Amino acid sequence: MKQKEIVDLNNSNNTPAVSIVGVGYVGLTLAAILSNAGIKTYAVDIDKDKIDIIKKGKSYFFEPGLNEFVKEGIESKKLIPTTNYKAAIENSDITFICVGTPSNPDGSVNLDFVFKSVKSILENIKSDLIIVQKSTVPVGTGKRIKKMIDKYNSKDININLISSPEFLREGSAVFDTIFPDRIIVGGNSKKAIKKVVALYEKIDNFAKNVKQNDFMEYALLYTNRKRNEDLASFFKRVIETDLESSELIKVTANSFLALKISFANSVSRLCAQNRAKTADVMVGIGSDHRIGKSFLTPGLGYGGGCFPKDVAGMINYANSYNFSFNILDEAVKINETQVYFAISKIKKLLGEDLRNKKAAFLGLSYKPGTSDVRKSQASRLLRKILDRGMAVFVYDPQAISEAKKKISHKNLTYIDNIKDVFKKADIIILATEWNEFVDFDYSKITKDMNSLNFFDGRGVIDEDKIKELGFNFIGF
Ligand code: UDX
Repeated sequence: MKQKEIVDLNNSNNTPAVSIVGVGYVGLTLAAILSNAGIKTYAVDIDKDKIDIIKKGKSYFFEPGLNEFVKEGIESKKLIPTTNYKAAIENSDITFICVGTPSNPDGSVNLDFVFKSVKSILENIKSDLIIVQKSTVPVGTGKRIKKMIDKYNSKDININLISSPEFLREGSAVFDTIFPDRIIVGGNSKKAIKKVVALYEKIDNFAKNVKQNDFMEYALLYTNRKRNEDLASFFKRVIETDLESSELIKVTANSFLALKISFANSVSRLCAQNRAKTADVMVGIGSDHRIGKSFLTPGLGYGGGCFPKDVAGMINYANSYNFSFNILDEAVKINETQVYFAISKIKKLLGEDLRNKKAAFLGLSYKPGTSDVRKSQASRLLRKILDRGMAVFVYDPQAISEAKKKISHKNLTYIDNIKDVFKKADIIILATEWNEFVDFDYSKITKDMNSLNFFDGRGVIDEDKIKELGFNFIGF
């Protein structure tokens, strides 16, 4: 059997070829950036429609800045989208698994796509390969993958498994991939770890020439970082560890952040009792460096494809060891009831009976910078007020078409232009903190509204300014 040449990543003439299995947020972004960093990168997916769009030099989902990097990757021929595992695996030295890991109804994580990809990779292996597992998985998944791999290891072929979780946020996936806070690389083989770290270093070298531009818009949202110059040098950000620790770091990080948000939301409930200003309290406690200001912005709560799933996965994992992670159960409960807390605030403005009251509803996605409406608290609040008989005009800069597939109601009208959403409204409900909503000149639409009420579900509106326009205002 023909052996591939041993890859020495310190030698720039001998760059590895990479394949990425799964072209979702994580996979396509990584593939686009690696290819822009000069690495030949196969982007593999079983979904031909997605691959066909990428071949045309575009992303099939909205993510700031991604289209430009995909286009550049395709034009330079470094990015090779394909449905053909054989070509991709045979020709690569390192392959990343970036497939989805949806939740099962009981909160456990469905690993079918991960194991199917491992199987497809192994069936096509012809020479040495490092498999980097990037999908978010419960601890112990690596061990199960390793068992599958070991059957294929031989004296001719050396397959190594690395766990390297991804921390990119939707809406700033490009920024987070180019300028990561930390790079976790876990595995048993020091040599394989070194090769993967050397590959990431290529991205870091590329990062030095990347201009900060529009993909930065939401990159520093909820963070303390001002710009990427706040980052430590590359090797200071690399954390080498074992498979299990690496797997645990990912879900624990997301669970802890969810905990912080639910803590902030609990404090905001307390503040509502005594009229304390939640925002000031949060700045006050967040200024303690041991606590930090990030992820203490109270509001409707967290959503998206990661936090709800990862917290549920962590609770489920703890339960499998008969350990009740009660503090996380509580974080979930607070998040789930946060929309009812929001409704109680809306009732303070409109009265107990919401029937036939008309809302200008701003936002559908679970956060700004994305068209994703999965587990969106904005969409949940929308459903709840429709259930209570409100008539709603809704606008979102990116998420309308995704929301239309999921929410329809006789009292719901989707509006394409923000200016048209306020007509005859009794209240503005801001549910997602898009900059467009924060910067909007509300003085222009006061005459369109039936009565001037404003509920800021994300704590982003300047209370004094909006009150000057004559609005009754409640925020967080
Ligand atoms: C998250 C993690 O941040 C990322 O590291 C991981 O890889 C994937 O999961 P993401 O889901 O894209 O990323 O969104 P993020 O920006 O972290 O926000 C998550 C949710 O928390 C959003 O719904 C947001 O609105 C909410 N949030 C965040 C708050 O309600 N308050 C805050 O202070 C911060």
